[in-house]
Amino acid sequence: MNDFVNQFWNWYVILLVLLSIIACGVMLWSQSTPPPAKVDTTGHVWDETLEEYNNPLPKWWMWLFYLTVIFSLVYCALYPTLGSYQGMLGWSSSGQLAKEVAKADEQTKPLYDKYMKMDLQALAGDKEGNETGKRLYLTYCMQCHGADARGSKGFPNLADNDWQWGGEPAAIVETITNGRMGVMPPHAQLGAETVKDLANYVRSLSGLPADSVRVAKGQEAFNTAGCSGCHGQDGKGMHAVGAPNLTDKIWLYGSSEATIIETITKGRTNQMPAWKEFLGEAKVHVLAAYVLSLSAGSK
Ligand code: HEC
Ligand code: HEC
Repeated sequence: MNDFVNQFWNWYVILLVLLSIIACGVMLWSQSTPPPAKVDTTGHVWDETLEEYNNPLPKWWMWLFYLTVIFSLVYCALYPTLGSYQGMLGWSSSGQLAKEVAKADEQTKPLYDKYMKMDLQALAGDKEGNETGKRLYLTYCMQCHGADARGSKGFPNLADNDWQWGGEPAAIVETITNGRMGVMPPHAQLGAETVKDLANYVRSLSGLPADSVRVAKGQEAFNTAGCSGCHGQDGKGMHAVGAPNLTDKIWLYGSSEATIIETITKGRTNQMPAWKEFLGEAKVHVLAAYVLSLSAGSK
């Protein structure tokens, strides 16, 4: 409500709330007349003698209603109920959340302090540490990398030993801490034929069936078109720019000729979010160890 350019909605809400409460009070008061000497019936009669009388509500009942009116007014004074008024207690939902988070952090701090003292490799071999890492993984990383960390199209497999950005402990920590942005530029300007040659060459690198004439032309284009600048002369990739190894059987987007042509023509841009601010150093440390443990068992 503080975001509005003027105070209109602020006062609109305040007046609406207060007027409604006052209206309830006035209505109660108008009904609190002393019982008349003779009470009329409403005119409804059942079973010959059963009549409905028009008695006012009993006093104790009315007082219950008055109490609710008083309660609302006290509540409005204490809590942020009226427009942008903050309330006398200074309570806010975000403040309460911050308090709860701080309390939880305090409880888990000794555990994370212990993990922070451990070397990443040692932590990767620690059963309890990996259980904590797994829980964190399932909360923050699973949506993109999958519950088994095997990834999917565009989201790399973290459980293998193939790395876009490097699998050394420091590289993994850097990836999770500051995020990564993989950019494969579009190469439509090379023309459809050259792109197809390149796609065949790329397929041949990992032993997939390819047209040998196109492979020869593609190999040349791979150097002249600048592919080797990022993927390396031998196509084995480059961690510094996140360019994947094109000679293995692991594909981020797919190995069919059509998919590779799409990758080369349109390019690919892919982002791994940064977690420094949100998770903090200690949780990143535990997650990096967990990722390391996942790939440790695979070739
Ligand atoms: C919003 C989706 C998303 C979430 C959530 C996410 N990632 Fe990623 N992650 C990606 C993408 C996309 C890439 C590939 C980036 C690229 O292609 O350059 C990636 C790359 C990585 C890599 C580098 C892999 C390599 O081969 O070098 C690691 C390690 C990683 N993520 C770990 C994590 C961890 C740990 C978490 C949880 C804290 C996480 N990711 C959460 C999308 C995500
Ligand atoms: C500026 C560096 C750069 C250049 C130049 C470049 N690439 Fe890439 N390439 C990348 C990056 C980074 C990725 C991964 C994109 C991502 O993270 O999603 C990639 C991905 C790919 C993929 C997808 C691999 C997979 O596993 O699905 C193919 C195929 C590919 N490049 C082929 C080429 C070819 C052929 C050329 C030359 C026409 C080329 N690249 C030029 C950086 C580059």
